[in-house]
Amino acid sequence: MNHFEYKNGVMHVEQVPMGTIAQAVGTPVYVYSTATLERHVRVFQEALAPLPDPLVAFAVKANPNAAVLATLARLGLGADVVSAGELRRAVAAGIEPGKIVFSGVGKTADEMRLALDLGIFQFNLESEQEAEMLSEIALSMNKVAPVAYRINPDVDAGTHEKISTGKSENKFGIPYERAIASYDRAAQLAGLDVQGVAIHIGSQLTDLTPLALAFEKLGVLIEDLRDEGHDIRTADLGGGLGVPYDSSLPVPPLPAIYGEMVKRIVQDWNVRMVFEPGRVIVGNAGALLTEVIRVKQGATQPFVIVDAAMNDLLRPSLYDAWHDIRAIKPRGKQTSATVVGPVCESGDTFAKNREMDVVQAGDLLAFMTAGAYGATMANTYNSRALTPEVLVSGDKWAVVRQRPPIETLIEGDIIPDWVR
Ligand code: LLP
Repeated sequence: MNHFEYKNGVMHVEQVPMGTIAQAVGTPVYVYSTATLERHVRVFQEALAPLPDPLVAFAVKANPNAAVLATLARLGLGADVVSAGELRRAVAAGIEPGKIVFSGVGKTADEMRLALDLGIFQFNLESEQEAEMLSEIALSMNKVAPVAYRINPDVDAGTHEKISTGKSENKFGIPYERAIASYDRAAQLAGLDVQGVAIHIGSQLTDLTPLALAFEKLGVLIEDLRDEGHDIRTADLGGGLGVPYDSSLPVPPLPAIYGEMVKRIVQDWNVRMVFEPGRVIVGNAGALLTEVIRVKQGATQPFVIVDAAMNDLLRPSLYDAWHDIRAIKPRGKQTSATVVGPVCESGDTFAKNREMDVVQAGDLLAFMTAGAYGATMANTYNSRALTPEVLVSGDKWAVVRQRPPIETLIEGDIIPDWVR
């Protein structure tokens, strides 16, 4: 459910006509709805009740915009970060360090120092080498680092190959079979407080079976670790819950169903539960607004050429991802067309032979469900400016990231004297 709705034949985001934003800010532009963010946080929190004091750590990578993070901070969320940049952004937006989990396979010494300085909730370690490095750094700072190991359960998440993370051949986590040995070693390291277990098997999961399987394996491991004398007090189940992208397909399991499954499995774990949802919080809270530059009749089909491109929204070209495409002012007729951007690659295609509203040059379109992994993955390929972002709340709206002038691209480069 989201707050992008037609009123009198025109798409609004909450109470603001999308066209108003396009006119003021230009296109392409990401548009986010505060009401949808609030709703998704509430639905996720309600799905977890009555778990005692779960930590919901929003996966910042899904949408690191400061205004979005500040909105989520106000609603009580923590953060799951994977770099110093994300950590600093989360803290700058008002997320308490005590609610921050640091994930990722390649944390550097500098990143560890920063996180120790800030006093984060937990480091999710992904190798024994990392454990040793963190312990040394913590000791040198007279601190003890709260840690969990991320376990690789060797479970196939059944999602796109590029966003599957829980198979043994993936780079993530420590092997399930080595877990006890890794915990025994970590327990010897004076700079670590080994407090928990963590898992994250992939993203955009539309079937709960692999998640349930992975969580059950984690439950067995918690028992085994306790039998070995490890004091396990936290369990982080990661993120991964899928969202509806294609409105003609059945909707993925709702957070409430996910919550039931989780509660059934973890009821006797006796730990503080941690969750790292990303997409399910922000996905449907955002749309990418774009203008049709022209419609060109190709040899086999019409091409709708829009002013957004793969640099603005990478998901279709990277994962063959589907985004619903809607006219802001539908003309009342449907057609089949291929929607492309101006970038010079055939991969710059948003949709092939898509049944969609008939459009003309100058019409506005929205790529729906673009709030997660949209703006955050934008880049400047083809020397296009980074995509601006707008946040709406009721009848208020504000630019929360400006479109940088193209000069910043040119001025950023340096031509050494010896080249001139
Ligand atoms: N926790 C960890 C350790 C993660 O690596 C991720 C996502 C999450 C949580 C959040 O997962 P979510 O709830 O959003 O599924 N760019 C891709 C998605 C990459 C996901 C990477 N990790 C896409 O556009 O589909």
